[in-house]
Amino acid sequence: MSNVSIKTVREVEGIRVASQMAAETLLAVGEILRPGLTTDDINVFVHDDTVKRGGWPAPLNYHGFPKSVCTSINEVVCHGIPGPRALAPGDIVNVDVTTIYKGFYGDTSATFYVGTPTKEARHVTEVARRALALGIAEVREGARLGDLGAAIQQFAEGEGCSVVRAFVGHGIGRAFHEAPQVSHVGKRGQGLRLRAGMCFTIEPMINLGDYDVEILSDKWTVLTADRALSAQFEHTLVVTKTGCDVLTHRSRALTGSEIYPDPFAAAVAVRA
Ligand code: MF3
Ligand code: CO
Ligand code: CO
Repeated sequence: MSNVSIKTVREVEGIRVASQMAAETLLAVGEILRPGLTTDDINVFVHDDTVKRGGWPAPLNYHGFPKSVCTSINEVVCHGIPGPRALAPGDIVNVDVTTIYKGFYGDTSATFYVGTPTKEARHVTEVARRALALGIAEVREGARLGDLGAAIQQFAEGEGCSVVRAFVGHGIGRAFHEAPQVSHVGKRGQGLRLRAGMCFTIEPMINLGDYDVEILSDKWTVLTADRALSAQFEHTLVVTKTGCDVLTHRSRALTGSEIYPDPFAAAVAVRA
């Protein structure tokens, strides 16, 4: 566990700039999402928006990933490959943006509502949104990774949902995926002890049914084994003495997903 790096202030500022670029691109995605748009359209938009800001989309050619963003609809848990599928009213779609700028990575995602969501779609999406907020609220120097996994798991399971085990959050910096692995389930008091300057993502994948997943023959698309809905939100953060700094923080509401100010963020502020 000692292979988890403590970032310098300059490194954190580099990750912050890349993270803010990713956050701005995700906000811009929210502005264009509508029924009829294909996930390929989202891919072109994210690619061009990222390049326009002077960055580069990290997913493109990452271990052979063929596109510039992950788009995961309904029962797709993560790593959906953009294609000809058009968004339809009632769909939920996670868009996961990762930007490289001056050698640093910033990684953030959100689940959007296409048109009016079903009760089930709204439930799994709001549980995922709040699970991320509760995980973030656990982060501070001296806390353990198990504390945030436990907070996420306890809340999500209490809401009748399950937490995906097979994919985790990750350290981030000059690489897309670094140590530590950040499980979204766990036990309080267990796992890595957090230190100020550690940078990692929290990105809980929350399922309406069971947590088991399958991978399609395209080698990327992860879907729920029972084909029930799945939702995800992701932030990149740095641990501080008193809490954490959310490097992919958004200064305004995500159109098509959240109301601003985020009521769950306010609840987190009260706890901290
Ligand atoms: N952005 C994803 C994450 O949150 C990773 C995507 S890898 C890709 O870690 F190759 F599919 F882009
Ligand atoms: Co990530
Ligand atoms: Co991501």
